[in-house]
Amino acid sequence: MAKEPIPSFEWIITDKCNYDCAYCYQRKYADKRHSPDEVTDAVFALLGSLPGSWRVKLIGGEPFIHPRFIDLCRRIAGAGHFLSTTTNLYASVARLREFLDACGGKLTTLTASLHLTQVKNLDEFIDKAAEFHAAKRPSTRFCVTSVLIEEDFERLRRIEERLAERGVPFEYQVLRVRARFVRYRPEIEAYLADRTLKRTDVIRKGSLFGTLCHTGHLFFKIDVNGDVTRCYNHQPHFYLGNIARGTFRRFDGPQPCLSPHCTCVTPANRNMIRFGEKATAHRIIRRLIGGTPGSVPYVAGKAWKAWRNRR
Ligand SMILES: C[S@@+](CC[C@H](N)C(=O)[O-])C[C@H]1O[C@@H](n2cnc3c(N)ncnc32)[C@H](O)[C@@H]1O
Repeated sequence: MAKEPIPSFEWIITDKCNYDCAYCYQRKYADKRHSPDEVTDAVFALLGSLPGSWRVKLIGGEPFIHPRFIDLCRRIAGAGHFLSTTTNLYASVARLREFLDACGGKLTTLTASLHLTQVKNLDEFIDKAAEFHAAKRPSTRFCVTSVLIEEDFERLRRIEERLAERGVPFEYQVLRVRARFVRYRPEIEAYLADRTLKRTDVIRKGSLFGTLCHTGHLFFKIDVNGDVTRCYNHQPHFYLGNIARGTFRRFDGPQPCLSPHCTCVTPANRNMIRFGEKATAHRIIRRLIGGTPGSVPYVAGKAWKAWRNRR
C-alpha cells in the first residue's frame, strides 16, 4: 500500500551563499538576498493556518548565513512543526550545537553537503561531521553528501570510507545539468546503485509525466521573494501565487505531473508521488489547457463542476 504523504514545504530563506560551486544549479540567481520580513511573516501566518503538523525544509543559498536562521528554527519547532535543512557545514561546532538546541526534538534531517572545490580543510570537515553526528538526537537523520563529478570518484570513495570509520553515512548526489541527471560510466553507475540520495533511482528511471502527485497540494516550494511553486520542475500550473501578496493557493488534491522530468528527491521521499497511478489522457489535456488556482479559467472550471453536480 502507498505510504501517506508527509505534508511539507521548502522555503528558500536566502539566495546568498559563502561558496561558489561551478556545478550549483542555484548560481543563476542574480539578485542575492535574504527572504524579507513580509515573506517571513506570511510563512509563519501560513504555518499557523495549516492543518496538523508540517515539515519545513529551510534551504538556501546557505541557510546558516541568514542572520536569523536559528531563530527561525526555534519558531518553527516551537510551533510544533518539524524541520530539516541542507548546509555546507561551514558553521562552527558551537553554532551547530546552538542550532540543535533550537530545534529540540523536531529536527528530522540534516544533510551536510561536501563541496570539494570549496572546503579548505577536509580533515576539519570530517571531524565536524563526526562531532555533529555524535551530538544530534537519535531521531535526527544525518548524512554527508557530495555531487559526483566523474574525475572525483576515487577521491569521494576514500572520503566515504573515512566517514564510515567515524560512523557517518555518506550519499552521492547525481549531478544535474540543465534539469537532467547525468549518466556516469558503467562501473560508477553500478557502484552508485544503493549509494545515492534516497529515491534518486526511482525518479531517474524515466518520465513521471501524467503520474498523480501531491506536489502543489501537500508539498510546495517558497522562494526568497515569496513566490510559491509546485516543485522544482517547470511545467504548466507550476506557479501557485505569492505568499506575501496573499495570492498563494494550494491545489485541493493530487494532480498529474506535467513535467517530462523529475529531478528532486524530496517529493518522492515525502510520499507525494503516486507511482503507477496515471491520470487519464482527458484529465491531462484538461490540466494542460486549464488555469492556475485562483485564475479565471480555474474559477470558471470550478463553477462549471459545481453547476454540473448540482442536485
Ligand atoms: C544548492 S545547495 C544549497 C544548500 C547548502 N548551501 C548546501 O551546500 O547544502 C542544495 C543542495 O543541492 C546540491 N546541488 C547543487 N547543485 C547541484 C547539481 N548541479 N546537481 C546535483 N546536486 C546539486 C548541493 O550539493 C546541495 O546538497
